[in-house]
Amino acid sequence: MIRETDIKAFSQRQTPFYFYDLEALSHTVDRAKAAADRYGFHLHFALKANSNNPVLELIKDKGLGADCVSGGEVRKALEIGFEPHQIAFAGVGKTDDEIRLAIEKNIFSINVESMEELIVIDEIAGQMKRKARIALRLNPDVDAKTHHYITTGLEENKFGISGWQVDDVIELVSKSDNLLLDGIHFHIGSQIRTLEPFRNLCGRINAIQLRFEEKGIKLNHINAGGGLGIDYQAPDDALNPDFEHFFKVFASLIDLRPGQQLHFELGRSLVANCGDLISRVLYVKKGLKTNFLILDAGMTELIRPALYQSVHPIENLSARSLNERAIYDVVGPVCESSDCFGKAISLHKSDRGDLIAIRAAGAYGETMASHYNLRKLGDAMYRFA
Ligand code: LLP
Repeated sequence: MIRETDIKAFSQRQTPFYFYDLEALSHTVDRAKAAADRYGFHLHFALKANSNNPVLELIKDKGLGADCVSGGEVRKALEIGFEPHQIAFAGVGKTDDEIRLAIEKNIFSINVESMEELIVIDEIAGQMKRKARIALRLNPDVDAKTHHYITTGLEENKFGISGWQVDDVIELVSKSDNLLLDGIHFHIGSQIRTLEPFRNLCGRINAIQLRFEEKGIKLNHINAGGGLGIDYQAPDDALNPDFEHFFKVFASLIDLRPGQQLHFELGRSLVANCGDLISRVLYVKKGLKTNFLILDAGMTELIRPALYQSVHPIENLSARSLNERAIYDVVGPVCESSDCFGKAISLHKSDRGDLIAIRAAGAYGETMASHYNLRKLGDAMYRFA
């Protein structure tokens, strides 16, 4: 939520920068936690969605764990104060150093994504004379029905161990003295807007759990990943996203064994709505058929529209007249035609110098920013209450 006082503060600052409403974040995390606590589920936050210190500190203080996909993220989580036993670590390409770090810190689980990786972890743990606590990330071949760039649970995707390899993997784990199998892990994709893919995932998880039990393996935990989508068009709706229905699906469909833990790794649904990209209009450029609103923020600050054709709400925060509207193609300054936040967008009539907010950019916004064109993003601004 952007307030009048925030806009005053924005007007004193150099743009572009990210603004975070930590009060909104706190509400969202509380809602997610309450919905998960009802069933005793465990929540981790996916650092890749946002790794700014105040955001992570708030989430850690609420008692969530961390979900990491690089050694850098594992280190960051530890620095912030997440306990090792709260940290899950996935990723198809972990380096030897990253594996060593995870074993040395004795994190909650190294989520193994291939037979090839399992062999390396076994070797490294052996050299270190330690036991590596692992979960097997399995590819459930479930369609998340989202953008194909953020679909991860199909056989054709690079993620996870495929069904045909599970028996071999179990055999290796059972024979090894260096591996402790704690659970199984799944993540089918991101920005999933219906519950059907999650229902399908539950069915697959139940079937896979039976396969492990047939081999005499008892799993301490199941990690169902993240993926819950948000309604990008309603960033200020206090009930967006719908955590209640999300967790209810898992509570009613997964056959958990006594004492077995169910974990989730939410990223976007926790942080997307608390962040906005704040920029200024550099020029209103007249075109033949359209007017271009050229901002000082572009795909270097928020790549999601260029990469996934995603649509973020755009608002003029300082329009001189609230009665007049106009249609613009809202673009950035970067030398790429994909550097466009939206075509034919209706906004309050805008002028050079106006403050523009690109809303619901708290997830995968700042973490995916780049220095392309040697551009520089300003320091983030936070409102705590
Ligand atoms: N767990 C794993 C193993 C993941 O790979 C991801 C996200 C998550 C959890 C968190 O998913 P979430 O709850 O945020 O959907 N850059 C893209 C999204 C990439 C998601 C990658 N994996 C975007 O801007 O839409």
